[in-house]
Amino acid sequence: MQYDDTGGAPSTSLRMPLVLIHGFPLDRTIWAEQTRGLADAARVIAPDLRGCGGSAMPPDATTMDAYADDVRGLLDALNIQRAIIAGVSMGGYIAFAFYRQSAARVRALILVDTRAGADSPEGKQGRDDNAALARAEGTGAIAERMLPKMLTPQTAATRANVAQDLRALMARQPVEGVAAALIAMRDRPDSTPTLAQISVPTLVIHGAEDQLIPVKESELLRDSIRGARLEIIPHAAHLPNYEQPAAFNRVVKEFLKTRVPSAN
Ligand code: MLT
Repeated sequence: MQYDDTGGAPSTSLRMPLVLIHGFPLDRTIWAEQTRGLADAARVIAPDLRGCGGSAMPPDATTMDAYADDVRGLLDALNIQRAIIAGVSMGGYIAFAFYRQSAARVRALILVDTRAGADSPEGKQGRDDNAALARAEGTGAIAERMLPKMLTPQTAATRANVAQDLRALMARQPVEGVAAALIAMRDRPDSTPTLAQISVPTLVIHGAEDQLIPVKESELLRDSIRGARLEIIPHAAHLPNYEQPAAFNRVVKEFLKTRVPSAN
């Protein structure tokens, strides 16, 4: 498993670990502005999930539980007992699985443009169609299909480098990892019953213009998780950490300062 870890630097080695779990079809580089921008507030650890970026694809079945197991294995290897767990979209599905497996190891949660519910029958069909597309035409075809939903039209029109980098990031993901992620998302459990069990400080973040996962999903998380706070990031779609990193990092730092003081 490949990962970034700012913990080697003397300035961050004693800070609370913050694990950033990427979404689909991405890798850890989607968090580049957080790895840089949050290092003065936390020890930032960003793994490539199995089959994504530079991480290998193990032979066992890929499920949300398997991804969460991998993240726990990384914490074990780094000798980290408790961490703040953050996930964007599919990374949020994995954060729910991690919490179910290992609540005692979660200091706080940050849930970004994600949802608790499982896929609808139409959603499951869409996963199969996309897995077939990835296998037949490669991940470039998935990138083309997803790009318009990832960013606001404004960013797509005026920040060509941001859109191009994101397209390239998606297109370079290995087919095997992308197809496995689609099947894992198709078969993921409903995490709605988990919400009432969450008893750690929770920050919910959503891009105001997300078309892939509507803001109402984050309102549901805020209303169902005790004490959760919701921050809406303007001028951002599905990836507010990537599209509006300054605003995103600001709300995360504020959360760490006020709700997770032991992290500072
Ligand atoms: C993601 O961004 O991780 C995916 O789009 C989530 C999903 O398709 O459910």
